[in-house]
Amino acid sequence: MRQQTVFGAYAGFYDTLYADKDYEAECDFLEQVFGPRGVATGASVLDLGCGTGGHVVPLALRGYAMTGVDRSAAMIDRAAAKVAEEGVGADLVVGDIRTVAFERVFDAVISMFAVVSYQLTDADAAAVFATARRHLRPGGVFVFDVWHGPAVLSQRPEVKTKTVAAADGDEITRVARPTLDEAARTVEVAYDVTRTSAGVVVERTAEAHVVRYFFADELRALLREAGFGGVTVGPFGDMSREPTEEDWNISVVARVI
Ligand SMILES: C[S@@+](CC[C@H](N)C(=O)[O-])C[C@H]1O[C@@H](n2cnc3c(N)ncnc32)[C@H](O)[C@@H]1O
Repeated sequence: MRQQTVFGAYAGFYDTLYADKDYEAECDFLEQVFGPRGVATGASVLDLGCGTGGHVVPLALRGYAMTGVDRSAAMIDRAAAKVAEEGVGADLVVGDIRTVAFERVFDAVISMFAVVSYQLTDADAAAVFATARRHLRPGGVFVFDVWHGPAVLSQRPEVKTKTVAAADGDEITRVARPTLDEAARTVEVAYDVTRTSAGVVVERTAEAHVVRYFFADELRALLREAGFGGVTVGPFGDMSREPTEEDWNISVVARVI
């Protein structure tokens, strides 16, 4: 079994493992957030931690001018293939979202599917918020989601197994073994992924992902320090109510004031 860098070999399984993730619905949610805040079709959107382009491609197809950044070249390669396949325009860059710098601003910045939770220290989260802030025009919108502390602490992470069929008929199985570290406010998830063809394991890889959970108040403080205002927090994809300990993922919307 190969031990890989985070989102290295895992990138090859990513789209198959998350084929059930409804990116179109998430883009509907993003547009519901954008619209009342003056971000419309044709606007420029920077996707921090864009991965395989799950939001880049549908938003580009909806007419947004997309730029995506990710530190995993393997994830960016897959995003680039999808962008080419769909014949849409999008700028895709390999880079670290704590430090990346474009000589321009955008109408909106998104960072979807727990990207900010991969920033394990306050300094790293603050660096990502600073990246978002310096790339937004006045009034620009920042939308992201993270793991929610109250839910992680009350539900507790558990071992989970997911099996999905790949397009070629192979079976992909991912076993996720979590270890909670309450002092660090993180969960280390050891992923073990196998590809089985006609009952025989033909590929196996392992990656450890360390994910930090956040509390709404600490997010508000970090965002305020980065120069954001108008912060609202809700369950993932739903800004109509405060999140509870039932909500493992929470969405956050902030604006440049
Ligand atoms: C769970 S994936 C989400 C990808 C995509 N946003 C989606 O919704 O499918 C998290 C991504 O964040 C990227 N990432 C995490 N920290 C990063 C950093 N500091 N700089 C650049 N990319 C980062 C990872 O490489 C990975 O592709």
